[in-house]
Amino acid sequence: MPRHLLTIPDLSAAELRTVLSLAQRADLPRVLDGRGAALIFEKPSNRTRHSMEMAVVQLGGHPVYTRGEEVGFDRREPVEDVTRVMAGYHGLLAARVFSHGVVERMAAVSAVPVINMLSDWAHPLQALADVLTMEQVHGDLRGRVVAWVGDYNNVARSLAEACVLLGADVALACPNGYGASAGELERLNLLGAGAVVDRRRPIDAVDGAIAVHTDTWTSMGQEAEKAERERAFESYAVTAELMAHAAGGAGFYHCMPAYRGVEVSAEVMDGAHSHAIAQAHNRLHAARAAIAFVMGER
Ligand code: CP
Ligand code: NVA
Repeated sequence: MPRHLLTIPDLSAAELRTVLSLAQRADLPRVLDGRGAALIFEKPSNRTRHSMEMAVVQLGGHPVYTRGEEVGFDRREPVEDVTRVMAGYHGLLAARVFSHGVVERMAAVSAVPVINMLSDWAHPLQALADVLTMEQVHGDLRGRVVAWVGDYNNVARSLAEACVLLGADVALACPNGYGASAGELERLNLLGAGAVVDRRRPIDAVDGAIAVHTDTWTSMGQEAEKAERERAFESYAVTAELMAHAAGGAGFYHCMPAYRGVEVSAEVMDGAHSHAIAQAHNRLHAARAAIAFVMGER
């Protein structure tokens, strides 16, 4: 059975550590030597497309970038037909999709590994880069507090899962109706050594945090809700004033694209404590590690 990476809990805590060490290795073998990798995008991308294409090249493979409308999942042909056919051409399939169910259906029938390059549920490649960057900046994350301020979305979920597996505690602050449900908090808290708490107010979530993360308030596919969301999230922007309540020297993190003057002030996004560009650059190392891992490298 091929190994897939659809969500962070597809990895055990020990496997997550392995992936993070693969991300720091300069001598990874050419696990895709002479093979293709289909990279299917139903949504736009800068970081994910470029980091995955270059990771495939660096691992000896050939990336084939494919727009969602070209394969037409469940319109031109069923997800299962697209997957079974492509698995005969490529050593790896990866997809960025609206519905997480699509990557699950791909994984259910694929003869080769499938990687989720962002769905409405999860963004595991981003979380790998996020924890890699935080470890580089702050060292061991065990027992440290990581704050998430804003929408409890795909990026927040994958980050919280990775933190819990690494033994970090997560403090959330999300507007009513946009946070983690009680069941989701329970699920997260059972995953690993770290604890996840809903602190509700941004000022309480960042208290003692070494890292403050946020993301856009309007994810891809939610554009029709933009005005309503901006009203609901109005008091959840990450500003210098909010950062002053975090631990001394706390880092600011954003998966990007970032909207200055909306979820984050320009002062914070472009300030000395912002690690957003390092996070983006670490996407390449995370992508290479994820591919090497699903291809069997340990
Ligand atoms: N962070 C991230 O996934 O960026 P892209 O949407 O540009 O790939
Ligand atoms: N939550 C955002 C992340 C973009 C990288 C989205 O899904 O659009």
